[in-house]
Amino acid sequence: MDNAATIMIFGASGDLTERKLIPALYNLQQKGRLPQRYNIIGNSRSEFSHDEFRDKLLKAARDNVKNGFSDEKFHEFAQHIWYLPGDVKDAAFYEQLNAFMEERENGTSNRLYYLSTAPFLYEPILEQLGAAGMNKSVEGWRRIVIEKPFGYDLKTAHALNDKVHDVFQEDQVYRIDHYLGKETAQNILYMRFANTVFEPIWNRNYINHVQITVAESVDVGRRAGYYDTSGVMRDMFQNHLLQLLALTTMEPPTSFDADALRNEKVKVLQAVYPIDMQNTVRAQYDGYCGLEGVDPDSQTPTYAALKMFIGNWRWDGVPIYMRSGKAMPRKTSEITVQFKRPPHTMFRRGEEKTIKANQLTIHIQPNEGIDLGIEAKVPDADESQHVQMNFQYDDAFGDSQIPDAYERLILNAIQGDAALFSRSDGIEAQWGIVDHVIDGWANADDAPALVTYASNSWGPHEADELLARAGHEWLIHDH
Ligand code: BG6
Repeated sequence: MDNAATIMIFGASGDLTERKLIPALYNLQQKGRLPQRYNIIGNSRSEFSHDEFRDKLLKAARDNVKNGFSDEKFHEFAQHIWYLPGDVKDAAFYEQLNAFMEERENGTSNRLYYLSTAPFLYEPILEQLGAAGMNKSVEGWRRIVIEKPFGYDLKTAHALNDKVHDVFQEDQVYRIDHYLGKETAQNILYMRFANTVFEPIWNRNYINHVQITVAESVDVGRRAGYYDTSGVMRDMFQNHLLQLLALTTMEPPTSFDADALRNEKVKVLQAVYPIDMQNTVRAQYDGYCGLEGVDPDSQTPTYAALKMFIGNWRWDGVPIYMRSGKAMPRKTSEITVQFKRPPHTMFRRGEEKTIKANQLTIHIQPNEGIDLGIEAKVPDADESQHVQMNFQYDDAFGDSQIPDAYERLILNAIQGDAALFSRSDGIEAQWGIVDHVIDGWANADDAPALVTYASNSWGPHEADELLARAGHEWLIHDH
């Protein structure tokens, strides 16, 4: 049984299938990690023959599979790919789909349903899968992967969770946040909990503040229609940034079990204090309102910076700064832990009076690795200088050893490991944090105005001032 699975992709004509899902499945197959018998079935309303669909995927795979791609191998893999057009809102379609799947499966098979459609179709698909009895793990398991965005706010996320639970048990549900599939994000837990040297000082006694930056050089491009209704808080903070925050600040779970891990994540997310409006910055890059698909008077932020606090023994009083934006100078995701200075300085440090405090920087992407900034004695001088101890993935593990996040996540869903997926209470805790900010921006008297920043800049000066008020500054580490 473990050797048969059907991966059923709803919304398969979308670009996620081409850019991420099929390349990930192809790589898994090449590594021998897919079940022996597998079928991949795509659905959307567009009409394609099986071969047209395979051909479209082949073209995209050539650009999107990083290493070891060959047309020949893809053709072999593509023998397992099928396409069934149809309207997912129509009950009759599911009868057809089930029959189609059974025919391909030719015996008992597990099934992974993958929702990659527009979010308004999630509920109808869930309902119909339930009505058709296709949700029941009787002969073989049935699981469902749900892409982001999971809801539009806390209320809709809660309603969607209810709908999901009407049809599937929580342990059948895999809510994707692809940041959790990134090797470097997973490594945060290894760094913290597979070593003894970090954890004893990972708290308010030794840490001055934490910064999380997820900067993107791309602008909203062709996704303007979606993006303008979403904005950076929903698109990036609700999921990716808060997941990085949770990994960085959670308590050690007792095991790597999905629930043990997620219990700790939820606990820390629930401990985040409601964010003070004075500690928020919202901004839009210049020219955004002129884009096709964007409301000319749009108030949608493409950048935000937040200062937040976590109310627990470990983190009380430690500022956590987070920022993310589009149209920034380069793509980089980094977490920096700024430690406190040594209490007493007995060494000289050139012209500067004080020793620089240690900084630990986790490079989520690119230049994957970890840097630790330390003070060292300058040879032949009686003073110190800040130098970097550096771990780089390329050096340690060789080039191109980092698989795409989707590869890991799809594999884990097939294996039934939900550790790297969001649970319903986690998603709702994340929305609670983000909703408070979005509602404040819309309604609070002390909400900051939406400001503009130059494309290709590190954001508005208001974000620098947010840190300067506490004597901090944004830290970006270039290699
Ligand atoms: C997606 C957002 O979830 O993440 C996009 O919708 C964003 O707007 C993307 O560009 C960033 O992902 P990555 O892996 O390129 O950092």
